[in-house]
Amino acid sequence: MQTVLVTGGAGFIGSHLVPLLAERGISVRVLDTLAPQIHGMLPGRTLDWLANTPGVEFVRGSVASEADLKASLDGITAVVHLAAETGTGQSMYEIDRYCRENVQGTALLMHLLANGAAPSVQRVVLASSRSVYGEGAYTYDEAADSIRITPSFRTAEALRAGQWEPVCPKTGTALKVVPTREDDRTAPASIYAATKLMQEDLVRITCESAGIGHAILRLQNVYGEGQSLNNPYTGILSIFSTRIRRGLELPIFEDGMESRDFVHVSDVAGAFVAAVEAETSANCVINVGSGVATPVVEIARALCKAFDAHENVRVTGQFRLGDIRHNVADISRLRERLGQVPAVSLSEGLRRFATWVSKQPLPEDQLGRANEELARRKMMG
Ligand SMILES: NC(=O)c1ccc[n+]([C@@H]2O[C@H](COP(=O)([O-])OP(=O)(O)OC[C@H]3O[C@@H](n4cnc5c(N)ncnc54)[C@H](O)[C@@H]3O)[C@@H](O)[C@H]2O)c1
Repeated sequence: MQTVLVTGGAGFIGSHLVPLLAERGISVRVLDTLAPQIHGMLPGRTLDWLANTPGVEFVRGSVASEADLKASLDGITAVVHLAAETGTGQSMYEIDRYCRENVQGTALLMHLLANGAAPSVQRVVLASSRSVYGEGAYTYDEAADSIRITPSFRTAEALRAGQWEPVCPKTGTALKVVPTREDDRTAPASIYAATKLMQEDLVRITCESAGIGHAILRLQNVYGEGQSLNNPYTGILSIFSTRIRRGLELPIFEDGMESRDFVHVSDVAGAFVAAVEAETSANCVINVGSGVATPVVEIARALCKAFDAHENVRVTGQFRLGDIRHNVADISRLRERLGQVPAVSLSEGLRRFATWVSKQPLPEDQLGRANEELARRKMMG
């Protein structure tokens, strides 16, 4: 019988994945610090579902502690590694903490596996991120998909001039986004993204040399019930939902046409289960997304609609340095290798999310504070 260790399993994605694994008769051990930035200062409610799900054992501890990791690896057959610090903007000034938790935590896990601390582990599934691609894939012309370019980051000068679309370095003409494939170039633009790419290398190299199966899931913008409403550094839909409930305007950066690939958390949990259960390990990188690019201004409007609220949306023309312009994943490999097709439409996912949010305590609006921090550090224009 499988016993799966889910690191960071008390978080957003874990709270969907862990019950799903347990439902399938898999024993689950969760190792999580219950970080206050995610769980608030009183993580009692988080512990409730963990304590009440049959087949689930909870260990409060850190992947950055050798003693905690060693103890939680006992008898484990597969590891799903979710534990991480996840704030892209915050990672740019909390570099030491992001490297310690994300890189050193993963290094310690792989060190223990390579050195026989858990000989029963046969597979490691890593939660990576689309951020490793940087701007992702573009072309000169949508019809000529064979000429793929991964453009450099947009400069502060270009953004100040309102030149939002990445341009061809030779001709200066705007490029067209195409779905990014797993073998497109990686070019992390934040410390967070760099730590995710390092996690990928640590997992791939160690697993290949130690004869352990692996799968690296590059998640796009995951949203849904259970995402942290307290963390001001991640989750555009959480931040917007608090503002909608407080009757505040939704400020949209750039011209609002920047796009993201929003994938519902239940589809993401399904992909992790498939990666754990697949008869033969995927041993590769797999994009997990919806395959659809949605402009941010459109998602803001759709969210207002899901809350049955007035469309209080304003495109500000402001920008954040390091933000990408577009994001959409090619999800062919998700279908081919894991047999997964996203099942939750954006309108259905937003409806489920809004219904859940409406039952939660109303958090403080923290957008102003997070933006002030970025402005103080000259990362906003
Ligand atoms: N949510 C997204 O949109 C998204 C997108 C791309 C990638 N990911 C990746 O998916 C994973 C899970 O993301 P999430 O959205 O569930 O995040 P989350 O912040 O809700 O959950 C992370 C969990 O990890 C725990 N944690 C943090 N540091 C830890 C440590 N040192 N040891 C043990 N536990 C620790 C936290 O307490 C939290 O419960 C992360 O690796 C993240 O990088 C998420």
